Amino acid sequence: RHTTVGIIGGGPAGLLLARLLHRAGIDSVVLESRSRAYVEQRQRAGILEQTTVDALRACGAGERMDTLGLVHDGIELRFDGRAHRIDFPSLTGGRSVLVYAQTEVVKDLIALQLDQGGPLLFEAEVHAVEGADTERPLIRYTHRGREQTLSCDYVVGCDGSHGVARDALPEPVRRTYQRSYPYSWLGILADAPPSYPELVYAHSPRGFALGSMRSPTVSRLYLQVPNGTDPADWPDERIWGELDARFALRADPDWRLRRGAITAKAVLPMRSHVTEPMRHGRLFLAGDAAHIVPPAGAKGLNLAASDVIILARAFIQLSETGTTELLDAYSDTCLRRVWRAEHFSCFMTTTLHTDPGHSPFEARLQLSQLARIADSRSASAELAENYTGPPLG
Ligand code: FAD
Ligand code: DHB
Repeated sequence: RHTTVGIIGGGPAGLLLARLLHRAGIDSVVLESRSRAYVEQRQRAGILEQTTVDALRACGAGERMDTLGLVHDGIELRFDGRAHRIDFPSLTGGRSVLVYAQTEVVKDLIALQLDQGGPLLFEAEVHAVEGADTERPLIRYTHRGREQTLSCDYVVGCDGSHGVARDALPEPVRRTYQRSYPYSWLGILADAPPSYPELVYAHSPRGFALGSMRSPTVSRLYLQVPNGTDPADWPDERIWGELDARFALRADPDWRLRRGAITAKAVLPMRSHVTEPMRHGRLFLAGDAAHIVPPAGAKGLNLAASDVIILARAFIQLSETGTTELLDAYSDTCLRRVWRAEHFSCFMTTTLHTDPGHSPFEARLQLSQLARIADSRSASAELAENYTGPPLG
């Protein structure tokens, strides 16, 4: 079997790439190790930047998104018992974000691909990419218990942070940059209407908390917890009590979250990681396969989308003009955006979480940084521009 672009991984990166290529008449095959049901239920990101929204709409995946997505024009920062709103449109020349869950993006793209696109195989686990620096790279995978090969003109590794594509970058060319953090998130989904009109990012001496949402009736909430935390140590009552304590406002001491049945509970570790370059020969890496950000900046899914938008443009240039100029620039073009997002995600993380290793001096610096964001238009604008994401150009 042969295809033009062999895509490893059917997460948002792989599915969006397949869709963009299909629209341009370029054929591809997507190999996804998990089942369709598993991929569609996996709870992850919830915030789409304008660039991601525009790309989904332009490739015909905008219908449910435009009906169910919630446009948000700002976020609230809470610290020192005070609330401060960051207004995106007035600080960024009109930009906003859309609350629309990754699970829904994935469902929309899978339905389109199965209906109109090239092959999308579930339970097809890739073991290796061979000959990345030859004219005919090969993907080895197992599907329905049988070992198979897919020969390709190009291979794109969209197989996430634990994927195998990255291993095909030989050690001498591969550089990795990473950092870990001394805390994790406990994330819950609850059948409760969100108690806030916009997302609330709260810094408190008890730790960070984030109030997000999936719909007008479903809340998504996160609590900073120590690494290695067992969700079993967090019965529902304890979670709600801790969230109320971390969101507490001095001016409104009776404020409480609306509670509801907790339907999912999981601990998420966090780290920053970048693999460079994002290309070796005819193998390209996109999304989490190349880079991980801690979630506080809401960047992971959006970076995955911008990588594949940039890559699809390059494949389209190649098929229309025969030139590889954009393909050759792919890694550098993406990495500029990736490092901006790495910096912002790290900044949001270290500014909002309480670090068990911090001295009281460092804790005071953190509060001063938050006050600066609240009090200065330029500091708020810096946050708003990064959060809503730069235009792709
Ligand atoms: P993935 O979504 O990881 O997709 C990779 C796909 O490849 C998967 O479907 C996987 O099954 C498949 N695959 C892996 N190995 C193989 C193989 N060998 N063969 C075939 N297929 C393979 N971002 C935010 O902005 N906010 C959040 O709240 C947030 N929460 C997150 C929570 C968790 C637990 C995780 C892991 C990530 C979270 N992220 C969040 C990040 C965001 O979800 C990711 O950045 C996004 O999913 C990246 O998309 P992707 O397509 O690159 O990778
Ligand atoms: C969500 C997750 C984030 O990490 C974030 O910064 C904002 C929202 C969410 O899951 O809704």
